[in-house]
Amino acid sequence: MTAIWLIVNDRRHQAEVEPRTHLADFLREDLLLTGTHLGCEHGVCGACTLMVDGRPVRSCLTFAATCEGADVRTIEGYDGDPLMASLRAAFSRHHALQCGYCTPGMLATAYDIVRRLPEADEARIREELSGNLCRCTGYAGIVAAIADVLAAPPAAAVQPIARPAPQRDTDRDSPTRERTPAPPEGRPAAPASPSVAIPERIEDGVTLERRLELSVAPDRVWTLFQDLPSVVRCLPGAALDAASEDPAEPVRGSFTVAIGPMRATFEGRALVSYDADHRAGRVRGAGSDPVSRSRAEGELRFRVADGSHSGASAVVVEMTYRLKGPLAQFGRPAIVADVVDRLMARFADNLSAFAEGGEAVHSEPVSGFGLLFGALVDRAKHLFARRQG
Ligand code: FES
Ligand code: FES
Repeated sequence: MTAIWLIVNDRRHQAEVEPRTHLADFLREDLLLTGTHLGCEHGVCGACTLMVDGRPVRSCLTFAATCEGADVRTIEGYDGDPLMASLRAAFSRHHALQCGYCTPGMLATAYDIVRRLPEADEARIREELSGNLCRCTGYAGIVAAIADVLAAPPAAAVQPIARPAPQRDTDRDSPTRERTPAPPEGRPAAPASPSVAIPERIEDGVTLERRLELSVAPDRVWTLFQDLPSVVRCLPGAALDAASEDPAEPVRGSFTVAIGPMRATFEGRALVSYDADHRAGRVRGAGSDPVSRSRAEGELRFRVADGSHSGASAVVVEMTYRLKGPLAQFGRPAIVADVVDRLMARFADNLSAFAEGGEAVHSEPVSGFGLLFGALVDRAKHLFARRQG
């Protein structure tokens, strides 16, 4: 058991929890705050969304033990809050709920939208709501209710604010600790120098192998692969912060992926080495996302070979990765494999365009909820096809 303290709806609680206990279970079963609903328990439906340190989180993916010192607000904790009162009234006016199962999570997300995005139009509201599923209403009433509140926010509405920075392990010991100041933009500042250790090898990792066919000669592709900034530019969501000429020095960078309202940016370091004799290379790296408190480490080995027809090339990629923390819940090998396939397809498009003198076609971070959904649909299709067969 792990001893923790945390603030829930302005009251301080002390408890002993098992390391595996989710925040949602802790709230429902230990504190009897059953307004937090559990649907999928896989981070997909959004029913369990609530606020931790002013940010919406999936409480089914958040371990209670990681909330030590956190400020948690559940749907029961908004008495006297004018913005939540307006949202509740607007939900009633627009028939934005039927069975009500999704409603606590919807209201938490709606609250975040109104505070953070005062200019949001219908398309943006729908995008921000994409991580909350409702099986009853068809969403029209929910979107209309949020638009109503955005059009006429309550007089005492909380002004749009930058979301608070996440609590760091170092400032969790004292109930009177000072909060890390919020950064000017919505995303909390990451540590300037991530100090995640680069593992020598990945124990217990998942390995995937892929072959990319490119309509560009192998020599050209090999030359491109040695130009790290160009490779990174071709990888949607990737950014290079610092690279040294010395191959023994790690490069610093980040990789962003968004899953509905959850956006993870893994900041970290990687060692890159090349084997010119075999037109091969190896990248070993590790990074962490301070917001979701998730960590990733991985190794990627690649080889540039002749393609299946003259003048073409094939890049054979083998990657081993391991995810830790709440986002590991999304790390099921089948889903990750589908997501990687889509990422690789974009990477191949970009690489081909770049090698032919053009610009990267896809530069935006991978929009993970679309990908996740696409991946789930693809898997459903496979299963369906198998059953039909
Ligand atoms: S219960 Fe579905 S996202 Fe948490
Ligand atoms: S109101 Fe029933 S799931 Fe949304």
